[in-house]
Order: sequence, then structure tokens, then C-alpha cells
Amino acid sequence: MNIIGINAYHGDASAALVVNGQLVAAVEEERFNRIKHWAGFPSESIRWCLQQGGLTATDLDHVAISFNPKANFLKRIGFVATHWPSASAILDRLKRQSKTLAFEEQFAAAVGVERSALKTQFHRIEHHQTHVAAGFLMSPFQEAAVLSVDGMGDFTSTLTAYAKGNAWNEFDRVYFPHSIGFLYTAITMYLGFPYYGDEYKVMGLAPYGEPEFADFFRKMIRPKGDTFELNLDYFTHHKKGVRMTWNDGAPVIEPFFSQKLVNELGPVRERKSPMTPRHDNIAKSLQVVTEEIIMHLLNRLHKKTGSENLCMTGGVAMNSVANGKITTQTPFKNVYIPAGAADNGTSFGAAFYVWNHLLKKPRTFVQDHAYWGCSSTNDEAIAAAKAAGVPYELLDEAALVDRTTDLMINGKVVGWFQGAMEFGARALGNRTLLADPRRTDMRDIINLRIKFREKFRPFAPSILEEQVGEWFEIDEATPYMEKVFPIRKDKHAMIPAVTHVDGSGRLQTVSKKTNPLYHRLISRFFEKTGVPIVLNTSLNENEPIVRTPAEAISCFLRTDMDVIAIGSLLIDRHQANFPEQFRKRGSVACP
Ligand SMILES: [Fe+2]
Repeated sequence: MNIIGINAYHGDASAALVVNGQLVAAVEEERFNRIKHWAGFPSESIRWCLQQGGLTATDLDHVAISFNPKANFLKRIGFVATHWPSASAILDRLKRQSKTLAFEEQFAAAVGVERSALKTQFHRIEHHQTHVAAGFLMSPFQEAAVLSVDGMGDFTSTLTAYAKGNAWNEFDRVYFPHSIGFLYTAITMYLGFPYYGDEYKVMGLAPYGEPEFADFFRKMIRPKGDTFELNLDYFTHHKKGVRMTWNDGAPVIEPFFSQKLVNELGPVRERKSPMTPRHDNIAKSLQVVTEEIIMHLLNRLHKKTGSENLCMTGGVAMNSVANGKITTQTPFKNVYIPAGAADNGTSFGAAFYVWNHLLKKPRTFVQDHAYWGCSSTNDEAIAAAKAAGVPYELLDEAALVDRTTDLMINGKVVGWFQGAMEFGARALGNRTLLADPRRTDMRDIINLRIKFREKFRPFAPSILEEQVGEWFEIDEATPYMEKVFPIRKDKHAMIPAVTHVDGSGRLQTVSKKTNPLYHRLISRFFEKTGVPIVLNTSLNENEPIVRTPAEAISCFLRTDMDVIAIGSLLIDRHQANFPEQFRKRGSVACP
């Protein structure tokens, strides 16, 4: 039984292939078309998933998309009758919905087959059902409370449920226009970050500030029964809609906060204008109040379910700072958040919804890693190096690990391109930039020389999973960098490059079972330094994470990266035989 799941027309368009109940492949379209968070139809991803499964389109039994414009129809009609949104907002929404009407034809065009030749059954599945499926059906739990919390999908922003086996009972829903995600996005835009997915920058900024404006945000969003509501006086989306354009590039959202918000909170920060303590305090206040609402939802959900297990999905589940506080601020003991908790994961959510929920097949798959994407051979890496005109060495695994750790200890920034590409927003040791977390200057070096990004943004630690309790105050698995924990105070000074200003770290716990090579690399670093942690940031430069060896080499040559390991190849900019035109970038001075 072959099922393709699709996320289209939401941010991070993606596709996933599930064969006989096992996830075989999953990838985001941005990795192919090189446009961050691309939100159209994921044709390349679908073709790659089929190729990865050794299938043709006519082998498919089911195709499911995480979008159903017919869902919540009465709520939509009721909203129009009571709120009188503008004609242009209604038109925008209808235009967007009309795209899914031609979903079957678009799929047929993507796979190059006549629609009539496809035997497959097509499914449009309500957006939050696919979030719940992605969160629960692939989790290790037999039963769990589920919170799906989002910007908006199919007129719903938030859904709570209790899941057991293959099914779930819903408790509460929050409908358009009320949304925690919209609150965070509106303030993200107010703070001068206009792109889809920029919310994590505000989350990174928050620890620099004080919650001076928390009471203001408590006026914008407040608990209501077991859920919450927005004060719509501070927004415009209920009248004008939320306009997202993406046809020519990364999705851009038009601001949807009201003049009343500007009157009370002060002037909007212009893009690229200096970040002041006031902006830090706004970010902190937003984060504090967001956490209050999330914990309110979770505490009420726990009362209804009594479960110790929680699955959390949706765009707001990308708030790793809030996620890291769940086990200390609620009675939940085990928190599972899938790789690709945002809309990207609704592709595999849709596929598993069909397999487990509609077809009622038993659950036999647990997602315990994120390595579902493209991989490359050494021959492809050699061809890419030759095409770029750069010399390389070929090393066996032990030598590669030994050289890489030595280079890091000597202050070098090392690209690490290995195995299958990660699904989701985070590099998790396969398309990663590595550096020594012990150096106080490493954060600035990477920010200014390679990533060219805002200085306030932190870098993440990858830590051997066996060592988490020694270095962090909470000892939980967090394989997708989905939670932020406080670092033990006595360790702050030992790993300054990955310790955020508030003493926290957005860690990735690395397992020998799911990524043996990365585990081996960090273990070797541990043997040499006594620190079981490396600095890990994504292998890219203001672009989606690299997918191919050629893209990795291009990124290496464009930036001040010192060395890159691609499979067994090691390419070192500082070797004597390296072409002069590529050596102009300087090395990192050793301490
Ligand atoms: Fe969503």
C-alpha cells in the first residue's frame, strides 16, 4: 500500500511517502527550488519521494493533502455573517481555496501522467487532523493528550484532543480569527521581520529583554474557558484577511496589526533599523504571555485527559522555549513533538491519517529521527569537487572523525555533509556547520563570517544523549532541537558559544542508534576535550539548507568556512594545493 502525503499552499510545502505503514521519504520543496519556506505545490518533492520508493505514480493507492476548504463550512458562513470581512478578503480566500479544487490535476501534471491513468484515491484532509496525525500516530505513545496549535489552517487555529490507538476525541477548537500564532506573527512583523517563519528570531531576541509590556499583551490575548481569545481591536485580519504572497520567492506576509496597537505600543520598528532595549522588552513580553496561554491550554487539557503523555504539533509547537518548560510547568511528564512540527509535517501527517485512521491499520511506525531526505554518494561528491575545481582528500571514517575534531579544536569552522538530509527547519548533524562550543568568540565568527545574520541569534548545542543530565538542568530527549533547557550554571563558562544570554541552550540530543556517525564525531570531541557537545548550525548561507554536494561546495566557497567534509571527502581551504582564487578568505585565528 503506497501513500503520498502532501503539504501544499501552506508554508514549507512538502511531500512524504508511506509504504505499508512505514515512512520511506519526506522532503520540503524549498530544498529543490532553493526558495525558503516555499508555499506552492511540491512537484519536485513528490517526484523525488516516488523515486526514493522505487515507484511510479501508477503504483500509488492514495494521495492525501492537508487542506480541505470544505471543512468548518458553517463556521465560515457564520463568521462572514457576523464580522463582515471586506470583499477583497473573501476573494483572496476563495482564490486560495480554488487551487485545491484542481489538486488532482496538479498532482497528475507533477508526475507526468494523465489524470485518467491514475488509479489512486485522492483525499483532502482537514488541516488540524493532519497535525494531530503527525503528532500522535508517529509518536511512541499508545495514548496521549494532543495539542495542535497553529497560525491558521482550514479556519481553525487550535485543537485539543485525547488520542488512543488509531483515533482521537476532540475537546476544544479555536476558530478564525483567534490564534496564538497570529499574535506572534503580528508582533514579529511589528518588530521589523517581514518573512514567513521569522518568529524564531523574536524568540531568540526575547532573553535579552524584560517583560515590561506583558500587561499590554495580556490585553491582546486572554484565557477564555479552556481556550483563549484575541482582542480584535489590535488586529485587522478579521476584516482584511491575512495576505501571503509567495509566487516569486519566499512567502511574505502583509502586516495585520491595527493602528490602535501602534498608538498604544509605539512606533513600528523599520527593517534594518537598530534593535533597542524597547524591542528586546517587547519580544520578551510577547514570549512570556505566549507561554502563559500555552500553559493554560495544557493545564486544562491535562485535567480533561489525566494523561502523562503529550503530543504537540502546529507552528506554535516550534516555540522551543515554551516547549522546554512544559514538564516543569504542567503535570505532563513525556512530551513528543515531531520533526517538522509546523506545516511541513502535515505531509506525513496526511499519509498516516489515511493509513492508520481511515484504513484502520495498526500503528507500527515511530518517528525517532529526521533523516528522511536526499543523500549522495562519494562519486557524486567527487564529481562536484572536480566541477568546482577544488582539491580534496579521501579519508576513512576514523580518520575523518579524527581530523574534523582536531580542526574544530584548532578554531576552524567545519561544514559536515553526511548521510540523508534532515526533514524540518533544523540541521541535525547531516547538513551542519560545526565549531568548538568552548570558544567565546565563535558565535561572532560564524555570524559575521559565514551566516551573515543578526548577532543576537544564538547557536545550538548538539550533545551526546547520555550526557544531557550532566550539562542541562532537565534531562529529556530532544532529537529535533524542539526544546530549550537551562544549562547547568557551573557549565556556562565552559560552553559560551552555545549558552544563550539567559543561560539556556536549544539542544539536540544525539543518539548512537539514529545517527551513529554524528554520535561518533561528538564522542571523539568529548575524548579530546572533556566536553560532549559541539556547536551546530545549519549548512547554508541565507538560503534553504543545502541538499547536494554541489550546493555544499558552492556555500563553502561563498563563505569563510575553513573546511568541509562531504561523505569521505575533506576539502580544506588552507591546504597548500588549494586554488589561490578560493583562498582569499582568512582562517580563524587560534586562541
Ligand atoms: Fe498548520
